Amino acid sequence: MTDVAPAPEATGRTAGLRGTPLRPVRVPLGGGRTARIWLKLEAQQPFGSIKARTAEALLDHLEAAGALRPGRRVVESTSGNLGIALAGLCAARGYRCTLIVEPTTPGSSIDRMTAYGAEVVTVAEVPGGRTVDARLDAVRQILRRDGDAVWTNQYESPANPRVHTTRTAAELVRDAPRGRFDAVAVAVSTGGTLAGVAEYFRDRLPDARIIAVDAVGSAALGGAPADRPFKLAGFGSGRVSGFVRPCHFDHRALLRDEDAAAACARIRRRTGISLGGSAGAAVLAATVHAARDPALRELACVCPDSGEKYAELTDGGDGGDGVPGEPPGAPAEISAALALLEGVCPDEAHDVPPAD
Ligand SMILES: Cc1ncc(COP(=O)(O)O)c(C=O)c1O
Repeated sequence: MTDVAPAPEATGRTAGLRGTPLRPVRVPLGGGRTARIWLKLEAQQPFGSIKARTAEALLDHLEAAGALRPGRRVVESTSGNLGIALAGLCAARGYRCTLIVEPTTPGSSIDRMTAYGAEVVTVAEVPGGRTVDARLDAVRQILRRDGDAVWTNQYESPANPRVHTTRTAAELVRDAPRGRFDAVAVAVSTGGTLAGVAEYFRDRLPDARIIAVDAVGSAALGGAPADRPFKLAGFGSGRVSGFVRPCHFDHRALLRDEDAAAACARIRRRTGISLGGSAGAAVLAATVHAARDPALRELACVCPDSGEKYAELTDGGDGGDGVPGEPPGAPAEISAALALLEGVCPDEAHDVPPAD
């Protein structure tokens, strides 16, 4: 069940990026208070995710530096979304493409990469939450072996955060209700989206609270990585972000993957909007902070993709019956926020359609 149109395929050298819709939902908080959460639906980008922006920016950056010419091989480590967009753009631009993924990468994402002609290598899960290190080792091996291979390096390229400053955040602020948000919640993996959005918000909306959303067991915002038996793709990382600095966020929300999945199930059931796990995590974190702080009434969430390709969200997060179970052991404040999401509803009167 979703009211979100399928993302169009890109067809040319450029991804055909577009301004994505900003869809508000209301969350009753009790005591007559309501938070409005504005969902920036990046599943509407070509290739179905926010990573269309990143892929195009990474390739443009290398081309501007003269590091790519047709026939060379683009290599990248990806949890899925970046790989789909890179594979499509490499096909359009005449580059070979090798993508290193891991067992949590959805099969349908791998199918899309290979349909674009990319070679896909899946590394084995590494204990201790360090599978990303195995992916990066595989990238480095290819770079050593193949003199034509070029790494887009989403973990360090300045093009990654920059595109979220110049486009993602600029669109959010342009479309904001009365030109402002009280807070914005962004989930992290490489941290490129958060760092880029934060740069823009600090400059243009300095009063907005920035909520960095990470997974329990992730090291993206610091701390040691740990096993995550139920791990949502694209949420958190086994390595610390190379982009996020302490000034980029006011609050750090650490959420369990299963709680983010439960949030997705509630939002889908109550509003018809299908969100990927990292987007569900952002909405859950926004709800926690809105419940804590009455000053937070208009909140934005970057929603990197939809839930369609994630089996764990379409049939695991809610037992397949559309009725989400309460994940056992959630901290009290998270349980309370999940309970509040049982009341989430669409606010179609204020929908902001996509604008380029
Ligand atoms: C679904 C999803 N959400 C969030 C992110 C995180 O984005 P970033 O790497 O900019 O932190 C990714 C990155 O791959 C993703 O695929």
